[in-house]
Amino acid sequence: MSQNNPTRIVAGNWKMNTTPEEGKKLVSEIIPMLEDELRGHVHTILIPPTVHLASLKSLFSSIGMTLLWGAQDCSAHSKGAFTGEISAEMLTSIGVSHILVGHSERRSYHGETNEMCREKIVRIVEAGGCPIYCVGETLQEREEGRVEKVIEQQLREGLSDLLRESPIPFVIAYEPVWAIGTGKTATPQQASEVHGMIREWLRDQVSNSVAATTSILYGGSVKAENADELFCMPDVDGGLIGGASLNSRSFVDIVKACAR
Ligand code: 13P
Repeated sequence: MSQNNPTRIVAGNWKMNTTPEEGKKLVSEIIPMLEDELRGHVHTILIPPTVHLASLKSLFSSIGMTLLWGAQDCSAHSKGAFTGEISAEMLTSIGVSHILVGHSERRSYHGETNEMCREKIVRIVEAGGCPIYCVGETLQEREEGRVEKVIEQQLREGLSDLLRESPIPFVIAYEPVWAIGTGKTATPQQASEVHGMIREWLRDQVSNSVAATTSILYGGSVKAENADELFCMPDVDGGLIGGASLNSRSFVDIVKACAR
């Protein structure tokens, strides 16, 4: 694969699941099954609850393979009196490379707006990390034919001037809200259509080279059984996996599907 193609990525978002012991067991099952893939071109990112990160990272730091660590969220501020918050810098300083921003669960349960996402993206880039910016429409928005409008607004308000100033590392995850945790996956055609639209937006608003190299992940009820048909579609560069990332066998099969 040429260096100018987007990196293939599979990220497992564990959400608020697993005790530290369960997390340790999950990673220790995943690593031996993934040996070949972890040496290959698919980047595998594990995104456990923040409280597990430091210990998991140090326990598995010597495996000599490319296993990356991500966080599910960070503060929009860099430091100070923000009780309960965790800064992007705290995360990157323990070896976190990727941080989710604007996951639909943060948007709907914690009132996160595109503007707040933008602030978080700035903090992550300042801290040397790579944001994974999540976008996606609700079922009502899809039924009203507003998919393109909603996603364009999420991209514009969350990202656009940042991308024009100077190149920053970032990944986009398209997660239709109606497909998250529902067992209802977007069809490969639906996913590819929206991914193509996101790439087109990057081409128009940023540059051809950013559009050509940005990884765009699909998330929403990805399972071992449907990963192949999603990952072979144009503009689908990998996946952001929720439920299926909590089972080592399913997660490994999904990473393998992305490597094919
Ligand atoms: P599910 O794979 O459980 O639908 O979750 C997707 C998701 O929200 C990943 O961030």
